[in-house]
Parts: sequence; structure tokens; C-alpha cells
Amino acid sequence: MTHQIAVIEGDGIGQEVIPAAIEVLESLDLDLEFVDGEAGDAVKADTGEALPQETYDLAADADATLFGAAGETAADVILPLRDAVDSFVNIRPAKAYPGVDAVRPETDLVFLRENTEGVYSGHEDDLSDDLSTLTRVVTTSASEKLAAFACDYVEDSDDHDGFSVVHKANVMRKTDGRFRDGVVGVADERGVETDEVLMDAFATHVCLDPEQFDVVVCPNLAGDVLSDLAAGLVGGLGLLPSANIGDDNALFEPVHGTAPDIAGEGIANPTATILSAAMLLDHLGYSEESQRVETAVESVLAEGPRTGDLGGNADTDEMTAAIVDRL
Ligand code: NAI
Ligand code: MG
Repeated sequence: MTHQIAVIEGDGIGQEVIPAAIEVLESLDLDLEFVDGEAGDAVKADTGEALPQETYDLAADADATLFGAAGETAADVILPLRDAVDSFVNIRPAKAYPGVDAVRPETDLVFLRENTEGVYSGHEDDLSDDLSTLTRVVTTSASEKLAAFACDYVEDSDDHDGFSVVHKANVMRKTDGRFRDGVVGVADERGVETDEVLMDAFATHVCLDPEQFDVVVCPNLAGDVLSDLAAGLVGGLGLLPSANIGDDNALFEPVHGTAPDIAGEGIANPTATILSAAMLLDHLGYSEESQRVETAVESVLAEGPRTGDLGGNADTDEMTAAIVDRL
């Protein structure tokens, strides 16, 4: 059966790292059909819309979407795209690979970030010249849905025993209280072990001793910030993939943005996007191929050639070719 993959490069290095990931996917000779869609700053400048309806529909109808990054218009692109695929959880692994000069080489974490609400629910208002407000939305249903996913995630794998729940329910008693109660409640019912960590304390603990954590379940903003922090521990933003999972659809994207400081030079690290493509393969049932891609990436990270952000002097094409070679 042919799987249709929506491919949205977006802006900046999205236009360099997505073709790299497609090259890797094409080299596997699977029954995948790639359909291109447009989104981002350049499309907005042309048409007035950062995410044209046809791109939204393309992502909604495809079996999975691979997205690069959007610049200034990121929020107008990625939030609706996550909605197009009905995504309720953002999976963000942060793993230090051998050979990469990581601040904490022992780091091996997976963030499961709530992906629909919290402070990213879009309810912001200007109430006066002096006052703006934001409504933070937390529902029991979304918290429990995330928890059920987290329980499946740890039960389906031999590598995980339980998960940490990160929140700030001591201050945001109603919203994070509801989040905590929803998540821990489901885990308790399912007999999955959890521990709770306040999100500010987590930031310190994960820097000092990342090995005490494994799977980390977070509200939306905390997951965004803490996974970028973890990127710093494992060697930089060029390495972190992510998956936005919905009930019937999914979207895969690097954690990084358009990297305007290096865009157009052909030197972006393709690892984050190639690992996102590996997550896409796993999602579509190609788990063996997914593992092969990760192993090839791991081998190139260890032996080179590596891009400049990793201390090497390879360009995007050379690093990608080396990964394809090892497949
Ligand atoms: P960024 O992730 O684009 O860049 C941060 C730093 O990391 C830069 O120094 C960049 O060169 C480096 N970097 C990122 N990815 C890299 C890669 N693959 N290889 C080598 N170096 C890499 O974040 P920044 O600078 O905060 O945002 C730039 C633009 O990207 C903004 O317009 C922002 O709105 C957008 N953005 C979009 C996202 C999305 O579409 N999902 C996510 C984050 C930012
Ligand atoms: Mg982010």
C-alpha cells in the first residue's frame, strides 16, 4: 500500500534539511509518494496567507507530513498544521549520541509534550494600552489523553519503566493542578509508575543529573522550553527530531527553526530532520527501516563527516550522502 507523505519545506534551512531527509527516505525504496505543499514567510509575502488552505488540506489528508520550519510566521503555520493532523502529543527525544561533544553525554530523554492547550491555546487579548492578557486552558480530557498515550508509550517499550510528570501545580493550582491530577490519575489506574517534579526544579536537576529522568510528560510551554534546554545538553538544536501524533495522522519536524544566521549556505545539520523522518517511518510501520536510518545517523555522528555546528566542516550534502552510504 502506498503511503502519501505531505512535504512542507517552509523557510530558511527548512529548504535544505527537508530535501536531505527526502533523499534518505527515497534511498530506502519504500512505497512512499511525496507531495509538496507550501507554507511560511515566503508564501505569506506572495499570497497574504502563511498556510494556504490547500497545504492544510494536504497535511490533513496525507498519511503523514514532514515539515521543515517557518520563520516569522511559525505560529501561523505550525499551530494550524498540528491541528490539521489532530495532534495531541508532541514526542521529542533528546539523546546524546557517541562522538558528539555534548554537555551531558549521558542524556537520554523523551519528552511527551501536551500539544493542544496550555498557554499556546491562542486566547490572547489587549485589554488597554497598558494591559494584555492570556488565558491558559487546561482540560481533564486532554490531560488524560496525553497520560493514556504516555502509559502506552512506556508499556510498549522495554526501555521505560514509568514517567516523570513535570508541572507547577504548587502555583498554578487550578490549571496545572488539573493537568497533574489528570495525568497521575490515569497512570495510577493503569499501574504505571510516575514521579512528580516541579518544572523549575526540573530545569536544574536535568542539567546536573539527566540520568535520573527518562520519559518526561509536560504541559505545552514547559515541554517546548525544557526540550530546547535538553537540546543544549546533547549537542545543539541541529540534532533534535520530533513527532506530532494524532489519532489518525501525524506530522514530523525538527525541533529547530529556520536558522536565519546560516540559511542559504548549505551547511545546516540535517540530523534533526533525518531523525524526524526515521520517526515517520516507525509511525507508518516501517520500524526496521526506521532503526536502520537511526543507526546510519549514529554512525556518521560518531565517525563523521559532521557539519559545523558539531565541530566538523562538512556541508549538508556531504553529511547526508554519508548517511545514505551507510544505509
Ligand atoms: P533556530 O532553531 O532557527 O536557531 C537557533 C540557533 O541554532 C541558530 O544559531 C541556528 O543557526 C542553530 N541551528 C538551528 N538548527 C540548526 C541546524 N539544523 N544546523 C545547524 N545549526 C542549527 O531558532 P531561532 O533563531 O530562535 O529562530 C529563527 C526563526 O525560526 C524565527 O523566525 C522563529 O520564529 C523560527 N522558528 C520556527 C520554528 C518552527 O517552524 N517549528 C521553531 C523555532 C523557531
Ligand atoms: Mg520551540
